[in-house]
Amino acid sequence: MARLDRLLANLGYGSRREVQGLVRKGAVVFDGVAISDGGQKVAVVADLPARLTVEGVPVDPPAPLTLIMHKPLGVVCSHREPGRSVYELLPRRWRARMPGLSTIGRLDLDTTGLLLITDDGPLLHRVIAPRSQVAKRYVARLARPLRGDEAAIFAAGTLVLESEAEPLAPAVLEPLSDHEARLTITEGRYHQVRRMFAAVGNHVEALHRDQIGALSLPQDLAPGGWRILHPEEQTAVFA
Ligand code: URA
Repeated sequence: MARLDRLLANLGYGSRREVQGLVRKGAVVFDGVAISDGGQKVAVVADLPARLTVEGVPVDPPAPLTLIMHKPLGVVCSHREPGRSVYELLPRRWRARMPGLSTIGRLDLDTTGLLLITDDGPLLHRVIAPRSQVAKRYVARLARPLRGDEAAIFAAGTLVLESEAEPLAPAVLEPLSDHEARLTITEGRYHQVRRMFAAVGNHVEALHRDQIGALSLPQDLAPGGWRILHPEEQTAVFA
């Protein structure tokens, strides 16, 4: 159970005082009845938006909330880096949510594709922890033709990236054409895919992530599009 005023403040509807103002003007309605006391307690359950409205609109989904996004080109995954961020593609109020939303791992400014965003800390850590071995699958368009030895080099588990000491875990490369390959990695080192191709004398011109675990980027999610992740899709991440 949570106090309604605290819950709404944590969902970004304003300070506790501003939420009290919404309550006073009868804008917060629970089970069809306008709330008169912001201190009233409600169960924070997933179907809360079906029962609680603010100014006539279903309340935002409570935590834990996980989103799936088709990250477009030209946006950053960081709250702090300069430039437009993936968070700006979400409703403005969501930037004030507590706990805050974070991307599960990062895609570069010029990488597109499947991105998960969550306020569920344990889920985030479970996806990115190296021991979870969650596979991340990318399609890379390359500046130069594949040489033919890349799959063996990436699979060996001995490749050491520039300025690193630890070899990379084995990765799977599948050529799609002479200038295009699918690469599946289980780690998430800084610019890993671009640096792997640089290590074999190539250069990534375009990079797209199409799968995390057994979860594929839905066909109907256009670049910049997002929606709430279904529970069975969350399960697929670890399949
Ligand atoms: N590897 C990269 O080099 N960039 C990404 O965005 C993701 C993986």
